[in-house]
Amino acid sequence: MDERTELRMHDTLLLFGATGDLSQRYLFPSLLHLLRDRLLPASFRLIAIGRHAYVDDAFRDWLRARLVDRHARDLDAMEDMLQRTSYVAVDLRDRDAIASTLSRFADRPSVSYLATPPNLFVPVCEGLAAAGLLANPSRLVLEKPIGHDLDSARAINASLRMHLDEDRIFRIDHYLGKAPVQNLLALRFGNTLLEAVWHYRWIESVDILVAETAGVDGREDYYARYGALRDMVQNHMLQLLALIAMEPPSTLDADSIRDEKRKVLRALRPMTAADAATHTSRGRYDAGVVEGQTVSGFRYAGEVETLVAVRAYIDNWRWAGVPFNLVTGKRMAVRTSEVVVSFKPVSHWLFERPVRERATPNRLVMRLQPEENIELDLMGSLAAPEWGAMELQPMALDLSMSSAPHRRIAYERLLLDALNGNQTLFVRDDEVEAAWQWIDSISDAWRDAGIPTQPYPAGSWGPADAAPFLPVTACATSRERSGP
Ligand code: BG6
Repeated sequence: MDERTELRMHDTLLLFGATGDLSQRYLFPSLLHLLRDRLLPASFRLIAIGRHAYVDDAFRDWLRARLVDRHARDLDAMEDMLQRTSYVAVDLRDRDAIASTLSRFADRPSVSYLATPPNLFVPVCEGLAAAGLLANPSRLVLEKPIGHDLDSARAINASLRMHLDEDRIFRIDHYLGKAPVQNLLALRFGNTLLEAVWHYRWIESVDILVAETAGVDGREDYYARYGALRDMVQNHMLQLLALIAMEPPSTLDADSIRDEKRKVLRALRPMTAADAATHTSRGRYDAGVVEGQTVSGFRYAGEVETLVAVRAYIDNWRWAGVPFNLVTGKRMAVRTSEVVVSFKPVSHWLFERPVRERATPNRLVMRLQPEENIELDLMGSLAAPEWGAMELQPMALDLSMSSAPHRRIAYERLLLDALNGNQTLFVRDDEVEAAWQWIDSISDAWRDAGIPTQPYPAGSWGPADAAPFLPVTACATSRERSGP
């Protein structure tokens, strides 16, 4: 790393929730990779904070045992990270204890990362402020979810503002750290061909599908209060929608992009009880077979959905009347995240074969994970017999990269950006609130219209009434994975 970059970077990271699942699975591995690749300052130090009573060495042993198998090739970097780590045990509901145990780290600018449930954000912030750890230019990073609805999100945002300005608050949505998600911006704004057709005159519908094969396992308590709508749609799905639908920003700086995303979120048409039955579907997985394994159903007494489908409309000039179908669920048939943009049919059909109704519409399919590829579905006659030059067939232009570049964990990019103070890939307070406002309209509509969850077998595409919301490519993905 060159010296000038290092000078701008904060070198102290306080990680709250250090013994939690997210830290173990993603945050420590990301830091380990960044150290291995010498992307962190030479003086980098990590303060791990949790409830369990460990001394430094006992915490290091605990963490080493969790990382060693997965990082067998990076043992030096792992030891380097462990030696830079000290552990502090403190009750995160106790502001005074936070202030007194952590004030010794206020000797230089830091980044405090709250990988904790949202009910701890305010007490932890108050403790940090009292310890001097939120003084300018120190920064604060918050994991999702920011609250549970609009009111709680507003209350959290207002409390944060009492301690630090918005330009030092970094709300994580890890989808924004994924390279193929950033590529949505690159494709949209780097190509004349797409610029010209990117609006209601040429686009028939947009599908955003995030299907998971994993279940809720181990997170039942959290999930039972959130469900798929709050866990996935409020953040990741709406961020994808905003990137696809936003107006071109005049520059790529953080606020220009976030201003445009916020406008889209504010233009989402609120769901009404009258539309809830036709514009949404809620599912809950039962026992079934996923990737060859028998799994049990999601057992919880309340009405919580593990799959949600919503037809969203953006009431603005560019998107008038275009349905955005959002579907996400646990324990679905395959793991895939994809965005499918379907174009309108050509205005006058000249061909005898196929008849107009059987022509496949042009489609741009962007698969984000697990594989990354882009496909453009066109109609052509190359596949027709010799005399059938005007016999059209669907043709797929496959734009997969022959050798996919090495991908980093999304959190690696986001941790670096937070240490460097770059907010472009973080979510601003007004975006979060606009997203909650729309989500609240859906949960209110479900309540008022009494929309129940429908059971679906684990390993399927959800209940029957979710089928109209799925992109046509979803079944094709299933077929490709299970072979001919
Ligand atoms: C998290 C949700 O934010 O995203 C999880 O809380 C979900 O329920 C996860 O499984 C999906 O992330 P990814 O990167 O695996 O698609």
